[in-house]
Amino acid sequence: MREKNKRLRSSQWFGTNDKNGFMYRSWMKNQGFPDHQFQGKPVIGICNTWSELTPCNAHFRQLAERVKQGIYEAGGLPVEFPVFSNGESNLRPTAMLTRNLASMDVEEAIRGNPIDGVVLMCGCDKTTPALLMGAASCDVPAIVVTGGPMLNGKHKGQDVGSGTLVWKMHEQLKSGEIDLNEFLSAEGGMSRSAGTCNTMGTASTMACMAESLGTSLPHNAAIPAVDARRYALAHLSGMRIVDMVHEDLCLSKVLTRKAFINAIRTNAAIGGSTNAVIHLKAIAQRIGVQLDLEDWQHYGKTVPTIVNLQPSGQYLMEDYYYAGGLPAVLRKLGENNLLNREALTVNGKSIWENVADAPCYNSDVIRDFDRALVKQGGICILRGNLAPRGAVLKPSAASPALMKHRGRAVVFENFDDYKARINDDSLDVDENSILVMKNCGPKGYPGMAEVGNMGLPPKLLKKGIKDMVRISDARMSGTAFGTVVLHVAPEAREFGPLAAVQNGDEISLDAEAGILQLEISDEDLEQRLASLRKDQIIARGGGYLELYLNHVTQADEGCDFDFLIGCRGADVPAHSH
Ligand code: FES
Repeated sequence: MREKNKRLRSSQWFGTNDKNGFMYRSWMKNQGFPDHQFQGKPVIGICNTWSELTPCNAHFRQLAERVKQGIYEAGGLPVEFPVFSNGESNLRPTAMLTRNLASMDVEEAIRGNPIDGVVLMCGCDKTTPALLMGAASCDVPAIVVTGGPMLNGKHKGQDVGSGTLVWKMHEQLKSGEIDLNEFLSAEGGMSRSAGTCNTMGTASTMACMAESLGTSLPHNAAIPAVDARRYALAHLSGMRIVDMVHEDLCLSKVLTRKAFINAIRTNAAIGGSTNAVIHLKAIAQRIGVQLDLEDWQHYGKTVPTIVNLQPSGQYLMEDYYYAGGLPAVLRKLGENNLLNREALTVNGKSIWENVADAPCYNSDVIRDFDRALVKQGGICILRGNLAPRGAVLKPSAASPALMKHRGRAVVFENFDDYKARINDDSLDVDENSILVMKNCGPKGYPGMAEVGNMGLPPKLLKKGIKDMVRISDARMSGTAFGTVVLHVAPEAREFGPLAAVQNGDEISLDAEAGILQLEISDEDLEQRLASLRKDQIIARGGGYLELYLNHVTQADEGCDFDFLIGCRGADVPAHSH
């Protein structure tokens, strides 16, 4: 017999028989709610990122209906509300620019409304962190339901992965391996069902992060978007959130430091996106958990990558679900003492209780530790005079031969400069060079665009060169690959040392030792930076962009707005009608 919550938050709206109670209920009744719906039932918000401009989340209306059925069945009152939907594929200049905007929308919508618990309908890359950040700042009971990945892409009888196919075919087009018709013919087959990118890109990574953090029911991350079991899981999540309200199971009981460490290790095991480093930091800060780049180094670095999915490996999310999904991976982590077993999850059980018996049905998709894809798969944290506040590199997507490399810098001042010169056969570059791009960090290219995996010069592609070391303050799509150093902090726009790199400078990368060094003296570096600092840039222009530029933090701090960090709770002053 469950113990009912003494006093629901929503009773501040619907629980009185005075003028205010009358008004709150009366307006809601214009939707046809009968009176008994307002008599002490938990009110559950369904925070929906549905949008036809976010194709990955375009099936969320149907999914939300299943969530509603579950909420009704468990005795709650569902109320669906829209929030800003920042879809990766259409939104310019990048969906990351509006992640914090969406999180503000979520936070204020939850706090300002009669909501006792919330279902977070996440999908496309940035919607997952945005919704978790907003809900964490309110610390109400919350459960994540993601939209699930697309079915495997198909092109000429082969499985093809979202994004990863585009990067590969574009390089082939530039090297002359394929023609334009062949390139364009893959469009339809790559995205052939509802859902998010079917590779282990950022959306799939963040879905795995949500599940490993304990914020979703088991298997949420991998069930394909169009699989009937996705709809059953939505129904069950709707039922569960009602009980979570009765149990007062708020996010802060789930989002503990132990849960974040589980997520860091999971990211290594799945070969997850580098974007997770930024998003987990941002979510942790909202709930008041300390999480630093060193935690990735300390807890994640030695964890092997055992999930054989593109871009690090071969398969796609559909295969991953059929092989056992994330529970099978978490079980292997637990059996190798790499899981905080007692971390609480939204179903009220510990993460280990959820996964202890999880089967693995395909040991090529989800490998045993002794057959890992990469022995040390965790994201490498690099430091040195070129990145005093850190940079990241994803070993499972990189070339082992380039993980220790010294080369001559070929510098691009910004992304436009890169686009203007990279195809020029007279560019002074060879396969040992290091491509360096500046001014693509959180402020330099507002939103910190996913351009860090710079395509290689065509003249080298034609020679058969497939990878080079690339360094920037940008991010990289989770579907991309290569020996790519990202998130260099401080960024060039903030006069980090990256701003001082000149053509021909020698740079040393040692991923194993965690070093990224510009081979010039401290005095020369300081002198170069001092002359650059004369041109301080003031953010103007108005609108959201000005707010963004004045308040976004650096990559190592999660790129949140400085004034949004922290948990502000769900208390709100009453308003008088
Ligand atoms: Fe939406 Fe990849 S573009 S998940």
